[in-house]
Amino acid sequence: MKNRKIYCLNPISEIGLKKFRGGYSITDKIEDAHGVLVRSADMLAMDFPKSLRAIARAGAGVNNIPLEKCSEMGIVVFNTPGANANGVKELVIAGLLLASRNISGGIEWVRKNSGGENIAKDAEKAKKAFAGREILGKKLGVIGLGAIGVMVANTAISLGMEVYGYDPYISVGSAWNLKRDVHHSENVDELYEKCDYITVHVPATPSTRGMIDAEALAKMKKGVKILNFARDTLVSENDLAAALESGHVSVYVTDFPTAKSVKMKNAVVLPHLGASTAESEDNCAVMAACELQEYLDNGNIKHS
Ligand code: MLT
Repeated sequence: MKNRKIYCLNPISEIGLKKFRGGYSITDKIEDAHGVLVRSADMLAMDFPKSLRAIARAGAGVNNIPLEKCSEMGIVVFNTPGANANGVKELVIAGLLLASRNISGGIEWVRKNSGGENIAKDAEKAKKAFAGREILGKKLGVIGLGAIGVMVANTAISLGMEVYGYDPYISVGSAWNLKRDVHHSENVDELYEKCDYITVHVPATPSTRGMIDAEALAKMKKGVKILNFARDTLVSENDLAAALESGHVSVYVTDFPTAKSVKMKNAVVLPHLGASTAESEDNCAVMAACELQEYLDNGNIKHS
């Protein structure tokens, strides 16, 4: 009878843990684990036990896992692409509206002024200061057309935006799922030159590090609004801060609070909330647990 141990570096949904059938137990130490479940909150340490055969990341990004070390040791790494894509997509759409309608400024204003007796009248006067723009008919550039990028592009089409997508490595599945109305840009410069909004949905790799830098920003339209719900490393923060300061970029919305981003002019910064929904957490936990078990039991690999 097998006795396989699973270590969870971060808590995952109960519904995922319940997927482990007989012969599995959850251990509270990595030393004797056969499988590890991890989310994005912490970096996974490098000293893996000899018993470890696979790491499942309940989420998409694997930048908190030492991949080279894993391949040296023959440890398979899975992620759960698509399992939290709808959760992230919904926050990105909220980000488009946050970038357009001065929602955070308006909420802040009401909070500060709510003590006054004439709040309703005063708020009328504040309307002009918080006036925004509509997204209908505006151009959105989506860089990276994986599960999330495709969903964002398709939803933006439904909201009446003109959408430009760019992804030199688009998969057949993504191309199939993408609405036909999305213009597929051959090069990223087309998207930089044309779009009013740009949203990035690529993984954090050495080649995407700092891709939104001074050179890329200079190619973008004056007043462009940038959204980053993918990874903080994609953006060169010094260059972006300068572009926000000069007004070349009018708004930056992100769910990566860093020491720099929280101080940038016209930045709307949230905690990393993209996949923080009950539905996404359950989907990721179930998919990660099932795939881990499938590998440990039968050696089958789906997403690595
Ligand atoms: C992901 O990589 O799946 C998302 O950033 C959400 C997360 O795991 O925090």
